[in-house]
This record gives sequence, structure tokens and C-alpha cells, in this order.
Amino acid sequence: MRYLVANWKSHKTLTEGQHWLEQFTSLFTSQEITVILAASYIQLAALKDLARSKGLSLAAQDISPFPDGAYTGAVSARQLQDLVNYVLVGHSERRHWFHETHQDIANKIDQALNSNLNPILCVDTPYASAQFAAISPHHWPRLIIAYEPLAAISSGDPQNPQAANQVAADIKKTLGDSVPVLYGGSTTPANVADLLSQPYLAGILVGQASLDPHLFAQIVKHSL
Ligand code: PGA
Repeated sequence: MRYLVANWKSHKTLTEGQHWLEQFTSLFTSQEITVILAASYIQLAALKDLARSKGLSLAAQDISPFPDGAYTGAVSARQLQDLVNYVLVGHSERRHWFHETHQDIANKIDQALNSNLNPILCVDTPYASAQFAAISPHHWPRLIIAYEPLAAISSGDPQNPQAANQVAADIKKTLGDSVPVLYGGSTTPANVADLLSQPYLAGILVGQASLDPHLFAQIVKHSL
């Protein structure tokens, strides 16, 4: 099964998000691909029913490293449990702007898995091994990896598909062959098919091009 993840980042009001979902679901029909919408926390409750009825999954873009408790502003795994099936963890923007460490991210993965949420762990090659080492090997088979080379993110300059495939192969050698590895970084309808023709890539994480429902529907079409 292939995965296509739309990562809206800090974009879209509640109304804009609902409008996107109505437009996208009028264009999207396939059951052959897992489409996951990573929206802001504020969107999730409002999008849940329509997303489910149309066969789309929701993801949170982040999760608390702590359980329920006195952690003002944080959203715990248990709070997310009836809203989403997936959660992005360790996106490079979280590492950069919010100074998240490998250990913070490992704690988030613990929280997600304890609540049966599927973590999509974002990594780049310079720190992937250190990040994996901070996570209990017992958890490795339950991860989904998004390999996102920093230079490719929102730069208009995606990595070449063969190089991305080689990194995916190396990641699977470490974590296990059954761990899906997605690629993220400047994907568009024009380059998605080439990326997904690579044997070790199981999907795509899309940022900028996911903001327009028509463009994202084109990406889905080219992924089938
Ligand atoms: P991009 O973003 O598709 O805009 O490069 C990918 C990401 O940051 O997840």
C-alpha cells in the first residue's frame, strides 16, 4: 500500500480547511492508496467525519512528549486518539524552530505508540542514525519513516529519485524491511511518478503542493 501525506503546516483557517476537503474529496476516488491529511490541531475535529466518510485518514502534525497532565498547551496522545490515526513526529521544522532533540522525539514516539497512533518519523541522513538510536528497537517495526532531505524541502529542487531510493534502502536495512519509507521535499505532479517507481519508496510527504486541492489531487493521480 502506498502513502500520500499532505502536510499543511501552519496554513489554513478552519473554513479554508473545510473548503479544501470538500474540493479534494470531489476529485479523489481511489481506494488503492492511503491518503493522509496532516492538518493543524484546530482543524482535526471539524474535518474528521467528512475525511472518514471519504476514505481519507487524518494526522496530527505534532504530539506531546508527555502523557495527560499539567503540561499547558500540549496535546497528548490520548487526546488525539479519537481524532487521528497518524501523527508526524520530528519534522525538520520542529527540530529547527522548536529545538526538538532526538530524545524529545523518541518520547513522542513512545506516547504515540502507547495510544496506538502510527508515528510518521521525519529524518534526514546527517542525523537519522542518531535519531534511530534514541528510539527503542522494539518500536522500530511500528514506525513509518519520511526521509526528507533538508535541501529539498520547499526549495523547488527535489532529490533525484535514485539517490532517495538508496537512502530508503539503507534505512530499511537498519530498521527492517517492512518499515515503509516515504520521500518528502519539493514533490509535484511532474516528479511524483518517478519517485514512486523506485522500489524502496512507499510514498510521498507533500508540503507546498498539498495546499491546493487540485494540485494535490493531481499528485494522487500520478501516484497510482
Ligand atoms: P515541500 O515540504 O513539499 O514543500 O518541500 C515537504 C515537507 O516539509 O514535509
